Amino acid sequence: MIDNLLDSAKQVLNGNFQPKGFSIPCDGLYPFQWNWDSGFIAIGFSHYDFEKAKSEVKTLLDAQWSNGFIPHIVFHNESDSYFPGAEFHKSELSPYAPKDHKTTGLTQPPVLGFVLEEMYHIHKNKDEVLAFVKNHIDQVFNCHKHLYEHRDPKNEGLVYIYHNWESGTDNSPMWDEVWETMTDIPTYEFERRDTSHVDASQRPSNQEYNYYLHLIEIAKAHNYDDAKITELSPFLIQDPLFNAMLIKSNQALINLYEIIGGETEKINTLKAWNTLSKKSFNDKLYDKELKAYIHYDLRNDRPLRHVSSSSFSPLFASVPDADRAKEIIDNLMTVFGKEEFYLCASFDPNSDKFNPKKYWRGPVWINLNWIVFHGLKSYGYNELATRVKNETIELITKNGFYEYFDARKEIHESGSGGYGGNNFSWSAALLIDLLKKEN
Ligand code: DGY
Repeated sequence: MIDNLLDSAKQVLNGNFQPKGFSIPCDGLYPFQWNWDSGFIAIGFSHYDFEKAKSEVKTLLDAQWSNGFIPHIVFHNESDSYFPGAEFHKSELSPYAPKDHKTTGLTQPPVLGFVLEEMYHIHKNKDEVLAFVKNHIDQVFNCHKHLYEHRDPKNEGLVYIYHNWESGTDNSPMWDEVWETMTDIPTYEFERRDTSHVDASQRPSNQEYNYYLHLIEIAKAHNYDDAKITELSPFLIQDPLFNAMLIKSNQALINLYEIIGGETEKINTLKAWNTLSKKSFNDKLYDKELKAYIHYDLRNDRPLRHVSSSSFSPLFASVPDADRAKEIIDNLMTVFGKEEFYLCASFDPNSDKFNPKKYWRGPVWINLNWIVFHGLKSYGYNELATRVKNETIELITKNGFYEYFDARKEIHESGSGGYGGNNFSWSAALLIDLLKKEN
């Protein structure tokens, strides 16, 4: 049974790998290379095809901008099955964008640091993996440097995102409060492509796309200049998931530089970033009443007081102390861990904004489960971690390698509870990793 599942997962991954050496997240809906998708995919490939794992990371880093920025999509090929494509994003407006790759001017949660460390631990040939890490580690360091230097205007150690697509949790109800502040935005003429692949009830609305496009138009009007974005973007959010990935990746880079040897200055810089980031994270992004890490709206200087799966990601980056971790995990179990739900819904199931079918407004996502699984384990909550792992395996076994899954257990008894794209790469990649890992 486990062998079958592993084989099916490998088939999905192999099927999505492209001749140019990167993987698409899934056919039709996402026909290019996505940043954090590639990171998770590389972890899966590391278990059985290290050449592909290396290629996944390398093709993404080949499109890094000269200022260190790593884009969220690399348009390696032409495709008319996706909107908005390269001709909308126009990365060539920025003087830092590469000449030989078309990309977006947005980024995604910075996973590559801990991806390199996972690759190091998984792959048996340490000389080979270390040679690869040595070749690319500075590129990841430069990306972090860019984030701290250009996206942390108050020097708090908490970097902002300027677009919901940078959060990874694209249409989270969190952003509704930001959209309410954006009045008088134009109505754009555009043709959605996503809703020709997936039922519209599982995707963001057209009005949401208006906001998404508007934010990009503001950045484009200033050639993706960071200082102008800081000054003008109505969407400047300190996101707990994005910052947790950065902190985890900082620590991974420290560990890897220590294995490589030398580089004391970079190690000290990374340590200083993490000390400040963790302190501010706990001081500013922890809501004592909600007992959860939350988002902060830097533009409007106010917390966004909602609990989502992103609220639990700081466990993965060792942000809370043991007492706070316990408080968060108790909260996770009372709200998200009720018997009728699979762990871990992407948004608070008690909220009237919870929608178990719609993308990031409720469904379970495999990458967040993987992050929560590792977070729980690192604080010694092994039984709970095993529950997350088993439920993740169950969701995929029952439905297939979907992009996201209904959190309500009853749905899976009566029909399919898998939504969005099928044969989705990171669902397969992270399942491989979970199956290969000890409990
Ligand atoms: C989409 O098009 O929905 C993507 O997630 C954007 O990154």
